[in-house]
Amino acid sequence: MSLSLTEMAVEVLTTADGRAKTALSRRHAAAWFAARKGEATPIAVGTANPPPHPARPERPELLSPRDVPRRRPGSEAGRIALLHAVAHIELNAVDLHWDIIARFGHVPMPIGFYDDWVKCADEESKHFNMICDVLESIGSHYGALPAHAGMWRAAEDTAEDLMGRLAVVPMVLEARGLDVTPGMIDIFRKATLPAAVAALEVIYAEEVGHVAYGSKWFHFLCGRENADPKEVFHALVRRYFHGALKPPFNEEKRAEAGLPPDFYWPLAEETEQRNRGV
Ligand SMILES: [Fe+2]
Ligand SMILES: [Fe+2]
Repeated sequence: MSLSLTEMAVEVLTTADGRAKTALSRRHAAAWFAARKGEATPIAVGTANPPPHPARPERPELLSPRDVPRRRPGSEAGRIALLHAVAHIELNAVDLHWDIIARFGHVPMPIGFYDDWVKCADEESKHFNMICDVLESIGSHYGALPAHAGMWRAAEDTAEDLMGRLAVVPMVLEARGLDVTPGMIDIFRKATLPAAVAALEVIYAEEVGHVAYGSKWFHFLCGRENADPKEVFHALVRRYFHGALKPPFNEEKRAEAGLPPDFYWPLAEETEQRNRGV
């Protein structure tokens, strides 16, 4: 019996090792797209029971963000720490995209929804491997340093709410990646580490698509419920997102990804007022 797409997702989520998880993720993505092109037997979406947390390797040690040591970004150790943090984010992103497929298998969605998240999961798998290759080329590896423990929080908080998941994961967290990646590319360009620059440039280009898929399916669901996307977005981010939306924003890339300023600026202003105690 061949696996359904949601069963494939669960297989990826329950694989612990990063290289093994991403290899399986890429194999399942290739099988899905071969089937979609009619080159193989069709794969059903199906339904499955995803685990509450994805399996993770023994290393890195997962610490509360407060306890993850900070390193100067201008130093070699700082650059390794930055790449390590990116690898951790990418691995988490692989799981997040398979999780949205597995977790919401009971919500009827057009087939394009699955195409988009399988493509994202495949790209995140590639991103993880590219960053691991760079880390290994400079004498480190994923698992050599501690990493943030709180990365799955957004998935847990929105496990029952597909629109909440879309608002928080692609439209807040992945959009944040668009804001910070150009600065990272600069750091590695100055440090003359062209392999890191090349990897981050691929990530930067492809992440625009991930935010755009989030925005597309968020708007699709708002349309189905006859709801105002901007109002719903604000309400869901207030309910489920516990971090701060902080400028500077990459307004150009956010716009390219279908995220207009009136989605995020009002939330950023609320954060600022809270911080000032107004
Ligand atoms: Fe990525
Ligand atoms: Fe992404």
